[in-house]
Amino acid sequence: MSLVYRPARADDLATTDALVVACINELTLRHGFGPMAKASPPNFQLFSLKDDPDGLWVAESGGDLLGFAWSWVCGDIWFLAQLFVDPARQGQGIGNELLGRTMDHARKTGATHKALITFTFNRVSQGLYIRHGLFPKMPIYLLNAARERVTQALPEPPFFAIPIDNSAATMGKLVEIDTRAIGVSREKHHRYLLTDPTNKGVLLYAGIDAVGYCYIGSNGHIGPLAVTRPDVLRDVFATSLKLAADGAAETVSAFLPGTCHSVLSLAVNQGMRITFPMLLMASPGYGDWTQYLPRNPGFM
Ligand SMILES: CC(C)(COP(=O)(O)OP(=O)(O)OC[C@H]1O[C@@H](n2cnc3c(N)ncnc32)[C@H](O)[C@@H]1OP(=O)(O)O)[C@@H](O)C(=O)NCCC(=O)NCCS
Repeated sequence: MSLVYRPARADDLATTDALVVACINELTLRHGFGPMAKASPPNFQLFSLKDDPDGLWVAESGGDLLGFAWSWVCGDIWFLAQLFVDPARQGQGIGNELLGRTMDHARKTGATHKALITFTFNRVSQGLYIRHGLFPKMPIYLLNAARERVTQALPEPPFFAIPIDNSAATMGKLVEIDTRAIGVSREKHHRYLLTDPTNKGVLLYAGIDAVGYCYIGSNGHIGPLAVTRPDVLRDVFATSLKLAADGAAETVSAFLPGTCHSVLSLAVNQGMRITFPMLLMASPGYGDWTQYLPRNPGFM
C-alpha cells in the first residue's frame, strides 16, 4: 500500500488524537512510567488548522493514518506541538518525512527560533531532532501532588488575581508579559484559551502592576504561567498553587523548567513529585526560560 504525506484536514484530527494518545502510552509504558495521555477533543489542533494549515501533516496508507506532525508559529517562534508515528511503523523514515514538512512550515514563515518539548527517555526523537538542528536545551519536569499536601505551610501568596477577559486592555497586558517572558506575543493563543471552559486564566497584580498571569485547569493543572521579571516567578507560582489547591481537583500539577530554580524548590518543598521528565529542544540561542512555565508539550 503506498504511503502518502498530505496536509491534515479537520476530519483527521479526532483520529490523529487517538494515534497520539496510543503512541505516548506505548512509549511511557515501555519505559516503565505507566500511561501518560488520555484522549481529548482536538480543539487546539482545530484552532491551529484554521489559523495556519501549513503546520499540520499526516502520513496515510490505504485510508489509515500512520503519522501526524503539527507545528504552530507565533511571531518569530516556530513550535513543534506533536510528531507521532504508529508504533508498528516507527523506524521506517516516516517521522523524518513528516518533520521535514513541518520544518518547511518554519522556513515559509521566516521563524528565527524553533523549539519543542519531548520525552527525556526517548532516544529516537532526540536523535531525529538533532539531525534537524534542534538541540537539547534543558529539562522540564512534570510534577504533581495531592491538593491538601500542596497547601501545607504554603507561603501566603502576595498577589491578587483578576480573571482574564477578552478586553483590549487585558490583551495588551498579556502581550507585554509574553513579550518579556518568551520574546513574542501569544495573543491568538490567549483568545483560544478563553474559549476553553475547562481552564481559568488570571492576571496577577502587585498593587496596580500586572506582574504575571497563570491558567488553572479544572483538573488542577497550572500553566501556561508567565511573569514580567524572573524575581517574581516564585511568588506568582505560589499564588497559582493556592488557586489550584482551592479548586475541586484532587491533585495539582505543573511543568517546571530546570532553569526556574525558585519554583522547582518551592514545588518540591510543598510535596510535589516528579512524574515525567521532559526536555526542551531548540535551535541554538533559544530557550532560556526563567519567566515562563509551559502548559504542556503541545501548547508550550
Ligand atoms: C519519534 C518518532 C516520531 C520518530 O519517527 P520514526 O518514523 O520512528 O523515525 P524515523 O524512522 O523517520 O527516523 C529515526 C531516526 O532517529 C534517529 N535515531 C534513532 N535512534 C537513535 C539513537 N539511539 N541515537 C540517535 N539518533 C537516533 C536516527 O536519525 C534515525 O534515522 P535512521 O534510522 O535513518 O538512522 C516516533 O518514533 C514516535 O512516534 N515515537 C514515540 C512518540 C514520540 O516520542 N514522539 C516525539 C514527541 S515530541
